[in-house]
Amino acid sequence: MQDTYQRNINYLRISVTDKCNLRCVYCMPEGGIEQVRHEEILSLEEIARVVESAVIAGIRKVRFTGGEPLVRKGMTELIGMVNKIPEIDDIALTTNGILLPRLAAGLRKAGLKRVNISLDTLFPEKFAQITRGGRLSDVWRGIEAARDAGFDPVKINTVMIRGFNSDEIQDFVELTRKIPLHVRFIELMPIGACSSMARDGYISTDELIKSISAKHVIVPEKEVAGGGPAKYYKIPGASGTIGFISPISNHFCAGCNRLRLTAEGRLRPCLQSPEEIDLKTPLREGASLQELADIIKLAAESKPEKHDLTKTGWAGNKRVMTQIGG
Ligand code: GTP
Ligand code: 5AD
Ligand code: SF4
Repeated sequence: MQDTYQRNINYLRISVTDKCNLRCVYCMPEGGIEQVRHEEILSLEEIARVVESAVIAGIRKVRFTGGEPLVRKGMTELIGMVNKIPEIDDIALTTNGILLPRLAAGLRKAGLKRVNISLDTLFPEKFAQITRGGRLSDVWRGIEAARDAGFDPVKINTVMIRGFNSDEIQDFVELTRKIPLHVRFIELMPIGACSSMARDGYISTDELIKSISAKHVIVPEKEVAGGGPAKYYKIPGASGTIGFISPISNHFCAGCNRLRLTAEGRLRPCLQSPEEIDLKTPLREGASLQELADIIKLAAESKPEKHDLTKTGWAGNKRVMTQIGG
């Protein structure tokens, strides 16, 4: 499916819930978010039907996000359902890792191919601070569970924040030397809950690469399996890689391949634009797979050429990150 700017849209990010078992300061306001009524959230069967229609529109990869997707009951079954759709060749999950010790093996058996795990610091006290109360050891157990279950690659998402984890850059890089993890440093985006934090906390990829290169030789690495915008490097001989996701300094909109679906069944053509298209109403009114696919194509056609977060910020957007899924 091509959009108006000749981009090939083949990747659907599906948020299955806006609830989360952590409260990351850049993702959620302190008081949490307004709870959406359960009936408003798409059922697992409805999500699977959306994916069935999305393949008619040209979608081939699916990533489940949240909030925290694993707090939603039945994720293993949902992945099993999506795995039965032959056109889907990649099913991935972005998670905080906390529930992976319980679920990783079953998810893999059901057809999940890849997991990306968020981890912003290697210090327990700082982890508790950024997540407003989370336990770092839970995430480590989750990372181990993912590797034990045979997931490969296992990617780590590290949002870089000046004055918070900028002193840990080298520690994260060192981590990739012995352990086959793919640590991706993400530029902090001024989204919802963290607009003011991003003004002082933002660190550009260029600055990071300079700082890493002062201590390590790093060489460009071919893409690590995935569909996202990260650019990868590695320390020669290391088991893992480091990646950079640069939505601010080098926005990758020209190569954007994705649409998003919110937990309440609204299609979001672009992460940064407030525009949304209702898919739930036609879905619940009995639209055919082809009719749903036509709406998905319409959403792709209305993708903006690019975002301008640095100029317009998050103006006009009602959602925070946990309601979109990154
Ligand atoms: P892979 O398929 O493994 O490459 O995944 P991914 O990097 O696409 O997904 P993930 O959910 O791990 O996202 C990592 C980071 O990239 C998150 O901070 C997202 O918010 C950010 N990101 C993902 N997609 C987009 C996008 O379309 N635009 C912007 N600006 N940021 C994005
Ligand atoms: N800027 C950059 N990345 C963010 N994430 C959440 N909020 C932001 C933000 N404002 C990341 C999370 C998670 C991924 C889905 O999005 O850390 O890894
Ligand atoms: Fe795609 Fe919008 Fe993200 Fe740019 S900001 S990469 S157009 S989703």
